[in-house]
Amino acid sequence: MSKLQHKVVVITGGNSGIGFGIAQAFKNEGAKGVIVGRNPETLASAVAQLGADFIALQADVTKLADLERVFQETAEKFGKIDVLVANAGGGAVGTVATLGEADFDKTIDLNLKSVYFTVHHALPYLNEGASIILIGSNAAHRAYPNFTLYGAAKAAVIFLAKGFSSDLLDRKIRANVITPGTTDTPAFDKFVPADQLDGLKKHFAGEMPIGRIGQPADMGKTAVFLASDDSSFLLGAELLVDGGMTYLAK
Ligand SMILES: NC(=O)c1ccc[n+]([C@@H]2O[C@H](COP(=O)([O-])OP(=O)(O)OC[C@H]3O[C@@H](n4cnc5c(N)ncnc54)[C@H](OP(=O)(O)O)[C@@H]3O)[C@@H](O)[C@H]2O)c1
Repeated sequence: MSKLQHKVVVITGGNSGIGFGIAQAFKNEGAKGVIVGRNPETLASAVAQLGADFIALQADVTKLADLERVFQETAEKFGKIDVLVANAGGGAVGTVATLGEADFDKTIDLNLKSVYFTVHHALPYLNEGASIILIGSNAAHRAYPNFTLYGAAKAAVIFLAKGFSSDLLDRKIRANVITPGTTDTPAFDKFVPADQLDGLKKHFAGEMPIGRIGQPADMGKTAVFLASDDSSFLLGAELLVDGGMTYLAK
C-alpha cells in the first residue's frame, strides 16, 4: 500500500534539487499536487518527469500575492492540501564584513520570511491533520565561513517547526523540519565554475563521516516519513539528514 495515496502535496522549489527529490518520492508513494518555482524551463522538465498527477505553478515565494495565488489555484484543481513542503531557499554567500543591508534583506526574505508566509497563506487550504515540512540546514548548527546570515535564517526555520506545531494543535496540523547536510543539487553550480564541481563534491564527501554527500532521494525518503501517518507522534521535530556531519567528529 502506497503511503501517500491520494494525498495532495505542494512543494516549493519542487523543480530542482532537494525539492524535486521530495516530489519524486511523493509521486512514487501515490501523491498528486503542485510544484512551485520561478524558472519556466526547470518547472516544465520537472513536471514532465513527475507525470499527469502533478502541475507546475510559476511563482516567487518572496511575493505574498504569488503565494496566495498558488494556494487558491491548488485548491481549485485538487481540493484541500494534505502536505506542504516549504523548501525553496538558498543564500547570499559572504561574511558579516561583506554582506550589507540588501543581501541581508534578500537572504532573510527567501529563507525565513517566505517560509513563514508560505505557511500563513496555505493555512485556509490545509486539511485537518495536514503535515507541514520545512527545510533547514546544518549551517544552522555549525558556523561555516560565509554562511552566517543563511545559517541564522535556517536556525529560525528550525524554531518555526515548533512554533507552527504549537499554533496549529487545534487543527492537528504537525510541522517538522528536515535538516540536510551537504547534498548534491544544482545549488553547487551557483557557487563554483563547472570544471571545479567534481573536485568540490569529492572534497565534501571526504569531510562527511559517512563518506559521501547526500542525495535528494535521501531527503525524499525522510519527507515521505514526515508526510505520512508513520510520523504521527512527531511535532516540532528536527530530523538531521546529514551523514553525521553535524554531530560526529571526523
Ligand atoms: N544542497 C545542499 O547542500 C543543502 C544543504 C542544506 C539545506 N539546503 C536547503 O535545501 C533547499 C533546496 O536547496 P537545493 O540544494 O535543492 O537548491 P536548488 O537545486 O538550487 O533548488 C532551490 C529551489 O528553490 C527555488 N527557489 C529559489 N528561490 C525561489 C523563489 N524566490 N521563489 C520560488 N522558488 C524559489 C528554485 O526554483 P527557481 O530557481 O525556479 O525559482 C529551486 O527549485 C533550500 O532551502 C536550501 O537552503 C540545501
